[in-house]
Amino acid sequence: MQDIIRAKRDGRALERPQIDAVVAALADRSIALEHAAALAMAIYLNGMDAGETAALTGAMARSGTVIDWRAEGLPGPALDKHSTGGVGDKVSFLLAPIVAACGGYVPMVAGRGLGHTGGTIDKLAAIPGYDAFCGPDRFRAVVCGAGCAIVGQTPDIAPADGLLYAVRDATATIESTPLIVASILSKKATAGVQHLVMDIKTGSGAFMRDGAEAWALGDAIVAAAAAMGMPAVALVTDMGSVLGASAGNALEVAEAIAHLTGAARDPRLHAVTIALCSELLVMGGLAADPADAAARCEAALASGRAAEAFQRMVALHGGPADLVERPRRHLAQAPVVRPVPAPDGVVQRVDARAIGEAIIGLGGGRRRIADAIDLSVGFSAVAPVGAAVGAGRPLALVHAADTAAAERAIAEFQNAVIVGGEAPRPAALIRSR
Ligand code: URA
Repeated sequence: MQDIIRAKRDGRALERPQIDAVVAALADRSIALEHAAALAMAIYLNGMDAGETAALTGAMARSGTVIDWRAEGLPGPALDKHSTGGVGDKVSFLLAPIVAACGGYVPMVAGRGLGHTGGTIDKLAAIPGYDAFCGPDRFRAVVCGAGCAIVGQTPDIAPADGLLYAVRDATATIESTPLIVASILSKKATAGVQHLVMDIKTGSGAFMRDGAEAWALGDAIVAAAAAMGMPAVALVTDMGSVLGASAGNALEVAEAIAHLTGAARDPRLHAVTIALCSELLVMGGLAADPADAAARCEAALASGRAAEAFQRMVALHGGPADLVERPRRHLAQAPVVRPVPAPDGVVQRVDARAIGEAIIGLGGGRRRIADAIDLSVGFSAVAPVGAAVGAGRPLALVHAADTAAAERAIAEFQNAVIVGGEAPRPAALIRSR
Protein backbone atom coordinates (compact mmCIF):
# COMPACT_ATOMS: atom_id res chain seq x y z
CA MET A 1 0.00 0.00 0.00
CA GLN A 2 2.88 2.38 0.74
CA ASP A 3 4.26 1.88 -2.80
CA ILE A 4 0.86 2.81 -4.21
CA ILE A 5 0.63 5.90 -2.00
CA ARG A 6 4.20 6.85 -2.95
CA ALA A 7 3.43 6.51 -6.68
CA LYS A 8 0.40 8.80 -6.42
CA ARG A 9 2.22 11.17 -4.06
CA ASP A 10 4.94 11.54 -6.73
CA GLY A 11 2.38 12.24 -9.45
CA ARG A 12 2.48 8.91 -11.28
CA ALA A 13 -0.61 7.25 -12.77
CA LEU A 14 -1.72 4.14 -10.88
CA GLU A 15 -1.89 0.84 -12.77
CA ARG A 16 -5.17 -1.10 -12.84
CA PRO A 17 -3.85 -3.89 -10.51
CA GLN A 18 -2.83 -1.21 -7.98
CA ILE A 19 -6.31 0.34 -8.13
CA ASP A 20 -7.93 -3.10 -7.83
CA ALA A 21 -5.78 -3.85 -4.76
CA VAL A 22 -6.80 -0.60 -3.05
CA VAL A 23 -10.50 -1.15 -3.79
CA ALA A 24 -10.39 -4.76 -2.58
CA ALA A 25 -8.77 -3.63 0.68
CA LEU A 26 -11.37 -0.86 1.10
CA ALA A 27 -14.20 -3.31 0.44
CA ASP A 28 -13.07 -5.95 2.91
CA ARG A 29 -11.92 -3.32 5.43
CA SER A 30 -8.37 -4.71 5.52
CA ILE A 31 -6.91 -1.32 4.54
CA ALA A 32 -5.37 0.69 7.38
CA LEU A 33 -7.27 3.97 7.82
CA GLU A 34 -3.99 5.91 7.62
CA HIS A 35 -3.28 4.35 4.22
CA ALA A 36 -6.76 5.17 2.94
CA ALA A 37 -6.43 8.75 4.23
CA ALA A 38 -2.96 9.27 2.76
CA LEU A 39 -4.01 7.88 -0.62
CA ALA A 40 -7.14 10.05 -0.68
CA MET A 41 -4.96 13.10 -0.04
CA ALA A 42 -2.45 12.07 -2.73
CA ILE A 43 -5.31 11.67 -5.24
CA TYR A 44 -6.80 14.98 -4.09
CA LEU A 45 -3.46 16.75 -4.68
CA ASN A 46 -2.29 15.00 -7.87
CA GLY A 47 -5.55 13.95 -9.53
CA MET A 48 -6.19 10.94 -11.75
CA ASP A 49 -6.37 10.71 -15.53
CA ALA A 50 -9.50 9.45 -17.31
CA GLY A 51 -8.20 5.86 -17.45
CA GLU A 52 -7.43 5.77 -13.72
CA THR A 53 -10.81 7.34 -12.90
CA ALA A 54 -12.62 4.75 -15.03
CA ALA A 55 -10.63 1.92 -13.42
CA LEU A 56 -11.39 3.23 -9.92
CA THR A 57 -15.08 3.65 -10.70
CA GLY A 58 -15.39 0.17 -12.22
CA ALA A 59 -13.54 -1.51 -9.37
CA MET A 60 -15.63 0.32 -6.77
CA ALA A 61 -18.86 -0.60 -8.58
CA ARG A 62 -17.83 -4.27 -8.66
CA SER A 63 -16.83 -4.22 -4.97
CA GLY A 64 -20.35 -5.42 -4.06
CA THR A 65 -23.51 -6.73 -5.70
CA VAL A 66 -24.35 -5.27 -9.13
CA ILE A 67 -28.07 -5.39 -9.85
CA ASP A 68 -29.25 -6.06 -13.42
CA TRP A 69 -32.88 -4.94 -13.53
CA ARG A 70 -33.41 -6.15 -17.10
CA ALA A 71 -32.51 -9.68 -16.06
CA GLU A 72 -34.81 -9.29 -13.05
CA GLY A 73 -37.72 -8.22 -15.30
CA LEU A 74 -38.39 -4.80 -13.76
CA PRO A 75 -41.49 -3.54 -15.60
CA GLY A 76 -40.20 0.05 -16.05
CA PRO A 77 -36.93 1.94 -16.40
CA ALA A 78 -34.47 2.17 -13.47
CA LEU A 79 -33.91 5.92 -13.08
CA ASP A 80 -31.93 7.88 -10.53
CA LYS A 81 -30.64 11.28 -9.51
CA HIS A 82 -27.57 12.19 -7.52
CA SER A 83 -26.54 15.52 -6.11
CA THR A 84 -22.97 16.61 -5.50
CA GLY A 85 -24.14 17.82 -2.11
CA GLY A 86 -25.71 20.90 -0.60
CA VAL A 87 -27.28 22.45 2.46
CA GLY A 88 -30.99 21.74 2.90
CA ASP A 89 -31.02 19.49 -0.17
CA LYS A 90 -33.94 17.11 0.39
CA VAL A 91 -34.74 16.66 -3.32
CA SER A 92 -34.22 12.86 -3.16
CA PHE A 93 -37.23 12.47 -0.83
CA LEU A 94 -39.41 14.22 -3.41
CA LEU A 95 -37.90 13.01 -6.66
CA ALA A 96 -37.86 9.28 -5.86
CA PRO A 97 -41.62 9.01 -5.09
CA ILE A 98 -42.62 11.45 -7.86
CA VAL A 99 -40.73 9.40 -10.48
CA ALA A 100 -42.17 6.20 -8.99
CA ALA A 101 -45.68 7.66 -9.22
CA CYS A 102 -45.01 8.40 -12.91
CA GLY A 103 -44.07 4.80 -13.77
CA GLY A 104 -40.30 4.83 -13.17
CA TYR A 105 -38.31 2.81 -10.63
CA VAL A 106 -35.74 4.56 -8.45
CA PRO A 107 -33.12 2.31 -6.83
CA MET A 108 -31.16 4.99 -4.99
CA VAL A 109 -27.89 4.35 -3.16
CA ALA A 110 -27.12 7.50 -1.18
CA GLY A 111 -24.51 8.61 1.34
CA ARG A 112 -24.11 10.08 4.81
CA GLY A 113 -23.32 13.76 5.35
CA LEU A 114 -20.16 14.86 3.58
CA GLY A 115 -18.26 17.89 4.89
CA HIS A 116 -20.66 20.75 5.56
CA THR A 117 -23.41 19.13 3.43
CA GLY A 118 -26.18 16.95 4.80
CA GLY A 119 -26.51 13.32 3.72
CA THR A 120 -29.67 11.52 2.65
CA ILE A 121 -28.79 8.48 4.76
CA ASP A 122 -28.41 10.58 7.93
CA LYS A 123 -31.77 12.21 7.20
CA LEU A 124 -33.39 8.77 6.83
CA ALA A 125 -31.97 7.84 10.25
CA ALA A 126 -34.44 10.39 11.63
CA ILE A 127 -37.28 8.04 10.62
CA PRO A 128 -37.65 5.48 13.43
CA GLY A 129 -37.35 1.90 12.17
CA TYR A 130 -36.24 2.84 8.61
CA ASP A 131 -33.51 0.35 7.74
CA ALA A 132 -31.28 2.03 5.16
CA PHE A 133 -28.61 -0.66 5.53
CA CYS A 134 -30.84 -3.54 4.55
CA GLY A 135 -28.72 -5.22 1.88
CA PRO A 136 -29.56 -6.10 -1.72
CA ASP A 137 -32.56 -8.43 -1.23
CA ARG A 138 -34.73 -5.99 0.69
CA PHE A 139 -33.46 -3.17 -1.56
CA ARG A 140 -34.80 -5.05 -4.59
CA ALA A 141 -38.07 -5.87 -2.81
CA VAL A 142 -38.70 -2.23 -1.82
CA VAL A 143 -37.92 -0.97 -5.34
CA CYS A 144 -40.42 -3.47 -6.76
CA GLY A 145 -43.05 -2.83 -4.06
CA ALA A 146 -42.94 0.97 -3.77
CA GLY A 147 -41.30 2.00 -7.04
CA CYS A 148 -38.44 3.57 -5.08
CA ALA A 149 -35.99 2.68 -2.34
CA ILE A 150 -33.18 4.66 -0.74
CA VAL A 151 -30.34 2.75 0.91
CA GLY A 152 -26.79 3.33 2.10
CA GLN A 153 -23.58 1.47 1.40
CA THR A 154 -23.34 -1.95 3.11
CA PRO A 155 -20.89 -4.88 2.88
CA ASP A 156 -22.90 -5.90 -0.24
CA ILE A 157 -23.79 -2.51 -1.71
CA ALA A 158 -20.88 -0.27 -2.81
CA PRO A 159 -18.73 -1.27 0.20
CA ALA A 160 -15.55 0.38 -1.10
CA ASP A 161 -17.34 3.72 -1.41
CA GLY A 162 -18.78 3.29 2.09
CA LEU A 163 -15.32 3.44 3.67
CA LEU A 164 -13.62 5.84 1.26
CA TYR A 165 -16.55 8.27 1.58
CA ALA A 166 -16.22 8.31 5.37
CA VAL A 167 -12.44 8.76 5.15
CA ARG A 168 -12.80 11.68 2.69
CA ASP A 169 -15.40 13.30 4.94
CA ALA A 170 -12.92 13.37 7.83
CA THR A 171 -9.77 14.33 5.89
CA ALA A 172 -10.68 17.38 3.75
CA THR A 173 -10.36 15.34 0.56
CA ILE A 174 -13.89 15.65 -0.77
CA GLU A 175 -13.41 18.22 -3.53
CA SER A 176 -11.59 15.96 -5.98
CA THR A 177 -13.13 15.29 -9.40
CA PRO A 178 -11.90 11.67 -9.79
CA LEU A 179 -12.96 10.79 -6.24
CA ILE A 180 -16.40 12.37 -6.70
CA VAL A 181 -16.90 10.68 -10.10
CA ALA A 182 -15.92 7.26 -8.74
CA SER A 183 -17.95 7.69 -5.55
CA ILE A 184 -21.14 8.68 -7.35
CA LEU A 185 -20.99 6.43 -10.39
CA SER A 186 -19.95 3.35 -8.43
CA LYS A 187 -23.13 3.70 -6.34
CA LYS A 188 -25.25 4.14 -9.48
CA ALA A 189 -23.68 1.17 -11.28
CA THR A 190 -24.16 -1.07 -8.24
CA ALA A 191 -27.85 -0.21 -8.21
CA GLY A 192 -28.28 -0.99 -11.91
CA VAL A 193 -29.35 2.56 -12.80
CA GLN A 194 -30.20 2.85 -16.51
CA HIS A 195 -30.55 6.66 -16.79
CA LEU A 196 -29.05 9.23 -14.44
CA VAL A 197 -29.64 12.90 -13.82
CA MET A 198 -26.95 14.74 -11.91
CA ASP A 199 -27.66 17.78 -9.78
CA ILE A 200 -24.32 19.59 -9.78
CA LYS A 201 -24.47 22.23 -7.10
CA THR A 202 -22.65 25.53 -7.40
CA GLY A 203 -22.42 28.51 -5.07
CA SER A 204 -21.52 29.12 -1.44
CA GLY A 205 -22.93 25.84 -0.11
CA ALA A 206 -21.47 23.58 -2.81
CA PHE A 207 -18.15 21.75 -3.03
CA MET A 208 -17.69 23.28 -6.49
CA ARG A 209 -18.42 26.90 -5.61
CA ASP A 210 -17.38 28.21 -8.96
CA GLY A 211 -19.69 27.74 -11.99
CA ALA A 212 -16.84 26.68 -14.30
CA GLU A 213 -15.67 24.00 -11.83
CA ALA A 214 -19.23 22.74 -11.49
CA TRP A 215 -19.59 22.57 -15.28
CA ALA A 216 -16.32 20.63 -15.56
CA LEU A 217 -17.46 18.16 -12.88
CA GLY A 218 -20.80 17.70 -14.63
CA ASP A 219 -19.01 17.10 -17.89
CA ALA A 220 -16.69 14.54 -16.29
CA ILE A 221 -19.58 12.64 -14.69
CA VAL A 222 -21.73 12.63 -17.84
CA ALA A 223 -18.78 11.41 -19.94
CA ALA A 224 -17.82 8.69 -17.46
CA ALA A 225 -21.46 7.57 -17.09
CA ALA A 226 -21.87 7.39 -20.89
CA ALA A 227 -18.70 5.28 -21.09
CA MET A 228 -20.32 2.88 -18.59
CA GLY A 229 -23.48 2.61 -20.74
CA MET A 230 -25.53 4.85 -18.44
CA PRO A 231 -26.88 7.86 -20.38
CA ALA A 232 -26.83 10.90 -18.12
CA VAL A 233 -27.74 14.57 -18.06
CA ALA A 234 -26.30 17.08 -15.60
CA LEU A 235 -28.00 20.27 -14.43
CA VAL A 236 -25.84 22.86 -12.69
CA THR A 237 -28.10 24.35 -10.02
CA ASP A 238 -27.79 27.13 -7.49
CA MET A 239 -26.60 26.26 -3.99
CA GLY A 240 -25.96 29.87 -3.03
CA SER A 241 -28.45 29.57 -0.16
CA VAL A 242 -30.24 26.87 1.82
CA LEU A 243 -32.46 24.81 -0.53
CA GLY A 244 -35.97 25.01 0.89
CA ALA A 245 -36.99 26.26 4.30
CA SER A 246 -35.02 23.90 6.53
CA ALA A 247 -31.61 22.31 7.03
CA GLY A 248 -31.01 19.52 9.53
CA ASN A 249 -31.88 15.83 9.43
CA ALA A 250 -35.36 15.39 10.96
CA LEU A 251 -36.36 18.92 9.94
CA GLU A 252 -35.69 18.13 6.29
CA VAL A 253 -37.74 14.93 6.40
CA ALA A 254 -40.61 16.97 7.87
CA GLU A 255 -40.25 19.56 5.09
CA ALA A 256 -40.19 16.87 2.41
CA ILE A 257 -43.41 15.35 3.78
CA ALA A 258 -45.09 18.77 3.85
CA HIS A 259 -43.99 19.27 0.25
CA LEU A 260 -45.34 15.90 -0.86
CA THR A 261 -48.71 16.45 0.80
CA GLY A 262 -48.95 20.07 -0.34
CA ALA A 263 -49.04 21.44 3.22
CA ALA A 264 -46.12 23.78 2.33
CA ARG A 265 -44.02 24.04 -0.81
CA ASP A 266 -40.86 26.09 -1.14
CA PRO A 267 -40.81 27.40 -4.74
CA ARG A 268 -37.03 26.92 -5.35
CA LEU A 269 -37.07 23.39 -3.98
CA HIS A 270 -40.11 22.66 -6.12
CA ALA A 271 -38.58 24.05 -9.31
CA VAL A 272 -35.32 22.10 -8.93
CA THR A 273 -37.20 18.91 -8.13
CA ILE A 274 -39.51 19.17 -11.13
CA ALA A 275 -36.61 19.99 -13.46
CA LEU A 276 -34.64 16.92 -12.31
CA CYS A 277 -37.68 14.61 -12.38
CA SER A 278 -38.54 15.83 -15.88
CA GLU A 279 -35.10 14.95 -17.22
CA LEU A 280 -35.54 11.41 -15.89
CA LEU A 281 -39.05 10.94 -17.26
CA VAL A 282 -37.94 12.04 -20.73
CA MET A 283 -34.75 9.92 -20.69
CA GLY A 284 -36.71 6.92 -19.42
CA GLY A 285 -39.35 7.23 -22.17
CA LEU A 286 -42.11 8.02 -19.65
CA ALA A 287 -42.86 11.48 -21.06
CA ALA A 288 -42.75 12.93 -24.56
CA ASP A 289 -40.92 16.15 -23.69
CA PRO A 290 -40.03 18.34 -20.69
CA ALA A 291 -43.44 20.07 -20.62
CA ASP A 292 -45.29 16.74 -20.66
CA ALA A 293 -42.91 15.44 -17.97
CA ALA A 294 -43.44 18.46 -15.71
CA ALA A 295 -47.24 18.10 -16.05
CA ARG A 296 -46.98 14.42 -15.07
CA CYS A 297 -44.88 15.29 -12.02
CA GLU A 298 -47.34 17.97 -10.89
CA ALA A 299 -50.22 15.50 -11.34
CA ALA A 300 -48.36 12.88 -9.26
CA LEU A 301 -48.05 15.42 -6.45
CA ALA A 302 -51.58 16.83 -6.74
CA SER A 303 -53.22 13.40 -6.77
CA GLY A 304 -51.35 12.26 -3.64
CA ARG A 305 -49.73 9.38 -5.56
CA ALA A 306 -46.22 10.69 -4.85
CA ALA A 307 -46.94 11.00 -1.11
CA GLU A 308 -48.34 7.45 -1.15
CA ALA A 309 -45.20 6.11 -2.87
CA PHE A 310 -43.04 7.79 -0.22
CA GLN A 311 -45.16 6.32 2.58
CA ARG A 312 -45.01 2.86 0.99
CA MET A 313 -41.23 3.09 0.66
CA VAL A 314 -40.85 4.12 4.32
CA ALA A 315 -43.10 1.30 5.55
CA LEU A 316 -41.39 -1.35 3.39
CA HIS A 317 -38.05 -0.19 4.81
CA GLY A 318 -39.41 -0.76 8.34
CA GLY A 319 -40.51 2.79 9.18
CA PRO A 320 -43.89 3.91 10.60
CA ALA A 321 -46.95 3.20 8.44
CA ASP A 322 -48.42 6.62 9.35
CA LEU A 323 -45.32 8.80 8.94
CA VAL A 324 -46.84 10.98 6.22
CA GLU A 325 -50.06 11.41 8.17
CA ARG A 326 -48.40 12.11 11.53
CA PRO A 327 -44.78 13.19 11.05
CA ARG A 328 -44.53 15.02 14.38
CA ARG A 329 -45.41 11.84 16.24
CA HIS A 330 -42.35 10.09 14.83
CA LEU A 331 -39.63 12.63 14.03
CA ALA A 332 -37.27 13.73 16.81
CA GLN A 333 -37.89 17.25 18.15
CA ALA A 334 -35.10 19.35 19.66
CA PRO A 335 -35.77 20.56 23.22
CA VAL A 336 -34.79 24.18 22.50
CA VAL A 337 -36.28 26.18 19.61
CA ARG A 338 -35.35 29.89 19.31
CA PRO A 339 -35.74 32.56 16.63
CA VAL A 340 -32.62 33.92 14.91
CA PRO A 341 -33.26 37.68 15.21
CA ALA A 342 -32.78 39.83 12.10
CA PRO A 343 -32.19 43.55 11.57
CA ASP A 344 -34.88 45.25 9.46
CA GLY A 345 -34.23 44.77 5.75
CA VAL A 346 -34.09 42.23 2.95
CA VAL A 347 -31.90 39.10 2.85
CA GLN A 348 -29.19 39.92 0.30
CA ARG A 349 -26.75 37.07 0.46
CA VAL A 350 -26.24 33.81 2.38
CA ASP A 351 -23.10 31.83 3.10
CA ALA A 352 -24.75 28.41 2.88
CA ARG A 353 -21.52 26.62 3.79
CA ALA A 354 -21.36 28.56 7.09
CA ILE A 355 -24.94 27.45 7.80
CA GLY A 356 -23.97 23.82 7.11
CA GLU A 357 -21.06 24.25 9.50
CA ALA A 358 -23.37 25.76 12.14
CA ILE A 359 -25.45 22.57 11.90
CA ILE A 360 -22.32 20.49 12.52
CA GLY A 361 -21.66 22.78 15.54
CA LEU A 362 -25.16 21.97 16.82
CA GLY A 363 -24.27 18.26 16.63
CA GLY A 364 -26.20 17.59 13.41
CA GLY A 365 -23.13 16.49 11.40
CA ARG A 366 -19.77 14.78 11.93
CA ARG A 367 -16.20 15.94 12.44
CA ARG A 368 -14.80 12.41 12.84
CA ILE A 369 -15.79 9.13 11.18
CA ALA A 370 -17.39 7.63 14.28
CA ASP A 371 -19.19 10.74 15.60
CA ALA A 372 -22.82 10.18 16.59
CA ILE A 373 -25.15 12.90 15.31
CA ASP A 374 -28.16 14.63 16.84
CA LEU A 375 -30.93 14.13 14.28
CA SER A 376 -33.26 16.74 15.78
CA VAL A 377 -31.12 19.87 15.40
CA GLY A 378 -30.83 22.44 12.61
CA PHE A 379 -32.74 25.39 11.23
CA SER A 380 -36.33 25.75 10.03
CA ALA A 381 -38.39 28.64 8.62
CA VAL A 382 -35.23 29.87 6.88
CA ALA A 383 -35.85 33.26 5.22
CA PRO A 384 -34.87 32.97 1.54
CA VAL A 385 -32.75 35.49 -0.36
CA GLY A 386 -35.02 38.44 -1.16
CA ALA A 387 -37.27 37.94 1.91
CA ALA A 388 -38.10 40.91 4.11
CA VAL A 389 -36.92 40.25 7.67
CA GLY A 390 -36.88 42.25 10.89
CA ALA A 391 -38.90 42.59 14.08
CA GLY A 392 -41.76 40.27 13.05
CA ARG A 393 -39.77 37.90 10.83
CA PRO A 394 -36.58 36.22 12.12
CA LEU A 395 -33.90 34.85 9.80
CA ALA A 396 -34.82 31.31 10.88
CA LEU A 397 -35.65 29.18 13.88
CA VAL A 398 -32.77 27.29 15.45
CA HIS A 399 -33.44 23.82 16.90
CA ALA A 400 -30.80 22.90 19.49
CA ALA A 401 -30.02 20.47 22.28
CA ASP A 402 -29.54 23.26 24.84
CA THR A 403 -29.58 27.03 25.22
CA ALA A 404 -25.81 27.49 24.93
CA ALA A 405 -25.72 25.59 21.62
CA ALA A 406 -28.71 27.63 20.39
CA GLU A 407 -26.97 30.92 21.25
CA ARG A 408 -23.80 29.88 19.39
CA ALA A 409 -25.79 28.79 16.35
CA ILE A 410 -27.81 32.03 16.35
CA ALA A 411 -24.57 34.05 16.17
CA GLU A 412 -23.19 31.80 13.41
CA PHE A 413 -26.40 32.06 11.39
CA GLN A 414 -26.47 35.85 11.73
CA ASN A 415 -22.83 36.03 10.55
CA ALA A 416 -23.70 33.88 7.53
CA VAL A 417 -26.44 36.20 6.25
CA ILE A 418 -26.20 39.73 4.85
CA VAL A 419 -29.33 41.85 5.30
CA GLY A 420 -29.55 45.14 3.38
CA GLY A 421 -31.93 47.77 2.13
CA GLU A 422 -32.54 46.79 -1.47
CA ALA A 423 -34.03 43.65 -2.98
CA PRO A 424 -31.18 41.64 -4.60
CA ARG A 425 -31.31 40.42 -8.20
CA PRO A 426 -32.63 36.82 -8.00
CA ALA A 427 -29.93 34.22 -8.81
CA ALA A 428 -30.79 31.82 -11.65
CA LEU A 429 -31.84 28.54 -10.09
CA ILE A 430 -30.84 26.29 -12.99
CA ARG A 431 -27.56 27.65 -14.30
CA SER A 432 -26.90 25.28 -17.16
CA ARG A 433 -27.68 21.86 -18.56
N1 URA B 1 -21.90 12.53 -3.39
C1 URA B 1 -21.28 11.33 -3.36
O1 URA B 1 -21.93 10.30 -3.30
N2 URA B 1 -19.96 11.29 -3.40
C2 URA B 1 -19.20 12.41 -3.47
O2 URA B 1 -18.00 12.28 -3.53
C3 URA B 1 -19.84 13.66 -3.49
C4 URA B 1 -21.21 13.70 -3.45
